[in-house]
Amino acid sequence: MRDKIVAGNWKMNCNREEALSLVTEISGMLQDEKNNSATVILAPPFVHIGAISHFVNGSPVKVAAQNCASEASGAYTGEVSAAMIKSVGADFVIIGHSERRNYFLESNATLAKKTELALMAHLKPIFCVGELLPEREAAMHEVTVKKQLEESLFHLSDEKFSEIIIAYEPVWAIGTGKTATPAQAQEMHLFIRNLIASKYGNAIADATSILYGGSCNELNAQELFALPDVDGGLIGGASLKSRSFVNIIKSF
Ligand code: 13P
Repeated sequence: MRDKIVAGNWKMNCNREEALSLVTEISGMLQDEKNNSATVILAPPFVHIGAISHFVNGSPVKVAAQNCASEASGAYTGEVSAAMIKSVGADFVIIGHSERRNYFLESNATLAKKTELALMAHLKPIFCVGELLPEREAAMHEVTVKKQLEESLFHLSDEKFSEIIIAYEPVWAIGTGKTATPAQAQEMHLFIRNLIASKYGNAIADATSILYGGSCNELNAQELFALPDVDGGLIGGASLKSRSFVNIIKSF
């Protein structure tokens, strides 16, 4: 059985006090309510990773960074390496989020380098793929996602690919309130799993968790998570409200 995962991407939100309140509330609810079967991951901004990791240490809640550098170390002012992220307590890193691709012009080749460095640092990548609205309207969504996977991940060995979590995030659904329909989500998740199977075989494809992201909330999570190829969610806006996020976690 592959892992069920709910990850909260806090993006550029929360000062220190807000971040600590949010993790305190989420952890408290999870401890009190217990009935959840998902792995829970929080992805705060870099500056809070150490404090959040310290807070959740010893609990089932895990921590991710939202990005990492495409170089190992050196004169890259403002960058944060995968090894540094690991050293302050995170176990995961989001790579290739559409906001990184579109606002910071990260290419598939750059994302391949980030993925390799993350794996070398023993961070599990949560690798994001997804099409823009014009690509979907032109029925190019499968072509886009295939290219993203092939150019950034499909050079990896079987062993290394087995560490990857995929997040399918159609860009038109992110922060827009326009969630993919269950049929659209299932179709793309199955498409992704079939691509993985044709490259790495059925066993690895069956074991790869594929998360859905894009206006996932406590009202639609249950229907999305019930789909055969949706193994959880990467949650933006709704992960900033403890009650909503915990309700999403409990939607399996
Ligand atoms: P929203 O849940 O706010 O649409 O964001 C999704 C996302 O980008 C998660 O990485």
